[in-house]
Amino acid sequence: MKFRTHTCAALRAGDIGSRVTLAGWVGSRRDHGGVVFVDLRDREGITQVVFRPEEHPAVAEAAHGLRDEDVIKVSGTVARRLEGTENSKLATGDVEIVADEIVVLNKAEVLPFPLDEQIANEDLRLTHRYLDLRRPAMASNLRLRHRVIKTVRDVLDADGFWEIETPILSKSTPEGARDFLVPSRLNPGSFYALPQAPQQYKQLLMAAGVEKYFQIARCFRDEDLRADRQPEFTQADIEMSFITAEDIFALIERMFVAVFREAWGVEIATPFPRMTYREAMDRFGSDKPDTRYAQEIVDVGDIFAGTEFKVFRGALDGGGVVRALNAKGLAKITTGQIEELTGMAKQFGAKGLAFIKCENGEWKSPIVKFFTEAEKAALRERLSIEEGDLVLFGADRRDIVCEVLGRVRLRAVEILGITHDPRRLDFLWVVDFPLLAWSEEEQKWNAVHHPFTRPKAGDVALLDEERHADVRAEAYDIVLNGVEIGGGSIRIHEADLQAKMFSVLGVGEDQQASMFGHLLKAFRFGAPPHGGIALGLDRLVMLLAHAESIRDVIAFPKNNRGVELMTASPSAVDFRQLRELYIASTKKA
Ligand code: AMO
Ligand code: AMP
Repeated sequence: MKFRTHTCAALRAGDIGSRVTLAGWVGSRRDHGGVVFVDLRDREGITQVVFRPEEHPAVAEAAHGLRDEDVIKVSGTVARRLEGTENSKLATGDVEIVADEIVVLNKAEVLPFPLDEQIANEDLRLTHRYLDLRRPAMASNLRLRHRVIKTVRDVLDADGFWEIETPILSKSTPEGARDFLVPSRLNPGSFYALPQAPQQYKQLLMAAGVEKYFQIARCFRDEDLRADRQPEFTQADIEMSFITAEDIFALIERMFVAVFREAWGVEIATPFPRMTYREAMDRFGSDKPDTRYAQEIVDVGDIFAGTEFKVFRGALDGGGVVRALNAKGLAKITTGQIEELTGMAKQFGAKGLAFIKCENGEWKSPIVKFFTEAEKAALRERLSIEEGDLVLFGADRRDIVCEVLGRVRLRAVEILGITHDPRRLDFLWVVDFPLLAWSEEEQKWNAVHHPFTRPKAGDVALLDEERHADVRAEAYDIVLNGVEIGGGSIRIHEADLQAKMFSVLGVGEDQQASMFGHLLKAFRFGAPPHGGIALGLDRLVMLLAHAESIRDVIAFPKNNRGVELMTASPSAVDFRQLRELYIASTKKA
């Protein structure tokens, strides 16, 4: 038995008169008592099938019994649709199949939700993900994801990269998140860590002389989840020897050209613009600036150098900054929304959020009474203040002001309801990240990227001078429309520099040997200079698909509580399983 001669997207006017067989799901039915119309759906598309009792009574009778999502095989003759009933939205919309044979391959019970409507309850969709994925929009996301990964592979293969798998049961690598641990039965009391990224393995492959490595790598991070974060996600992970950052930029730009050509059929412009981390923070208050929105943060400290306004005075005298953002057109903001923005400012460490509303030719604000005429005039000019604008101020430590105004800026875009052209692509390389960041909580220096990132050659000496905050890294992120879709760096390849870096991070000599001995040793046996990058494939596909959530481009994602609802994982395990692993659970699931 042959299930099909064509897919449900294949038939056209040129096929009229031929006898065909199709197989798929009953998408929708229109049963007029006599004639039955069925939209037969498969992965590729939809074809209308008509069952006519006057021509094939037994077949039409069987069609009366069909329900949504029954799986059927139908044979019949391709016919032109009656004039006026063509469907220009369907590739097969000029034709229909007049069925003379039907086999019901499987019956479907009533579905928990209809497949042809938007379903707000995502948990319901995830519980029955196999149904959710039948929907054309979801199927198209899976197809897109496949095409993107295939393109990435093709580009790298053509460039001489080898795809090499690295262990999933591996050793904890500090990428900054919490590890998922796996107990080892054969080594009681010992644990594998699932890789947060294959970082150390790919560097060890460089020490192994591989020179050009890549992997479509699954990564695992036990962190709080958001719309663009999953506990397991996929990276296009890349590492190369004997290269500079320029080689990586060029490779990745070439790869994006190929990906966008494949996915959208467009030619994107390269090279992508570059911006230093410092500039990104100063102008946009973010290390992943969304440059599609024109309004930028502006320093106004000089304008208020002589101010008597205690909030600004205090910030400036304390070595801080006074900066402002003109949210053009946002004077219509409600009091509730102002309170929301102020709450956000406080959450990120500011004491308040001063503002000016420009309405009916007036500056409405609790603070303008403290401004001189000269200050007002200078402000008006620097920020191009006009009727209808809302100007927001941050006066504090520089990092707090950047963070607060950066977040306020993004929220302003939402409140304004600004929508961007869906085809607009603002790519940006963010470069010259700081190497280290001071953690107030832990009272120590942490790596901004990871401990294997190379300090800029000119900045290494600053480490000895204890000027840690000023050391820049040979690190870069790639940002698309305000989303960080990748990041990487040139690495340390000398044992001494790596050991020094570990010391700065508070990893003592014993710990260095136990946690990173393999890497330090490898660096002593002739490791080449190397560097790389990892692209967040889920995020990239999310942007390509115009999906709102990363979950829409992952076949079986976890929800915001880290639960995969279809199989109900994680779940309790048998006491005996735990005993075999020498594990005692303190919590009953
Ligand atoms: P990094 O931690 O920046 O770098 O990760 C690289 C990219 O992976 C994506 N990403 C995520 N996507 C979905 N869910 C998550 N939880 C998640 N976390 C990260 C982001 C990010 O830009 N080993 C280094 C790379 C290197 O140095 O070569 C690394 O993993 O798009
Ligand atoms: P206050 O005199 O403290 O009530 O503050 C006057 C105005 O300045 C209020 O609108 C506050 O929200 C705002 N404000 C207070 N601290 C800051 C700050 N650090 N940055 C910006 N605005 C602030």
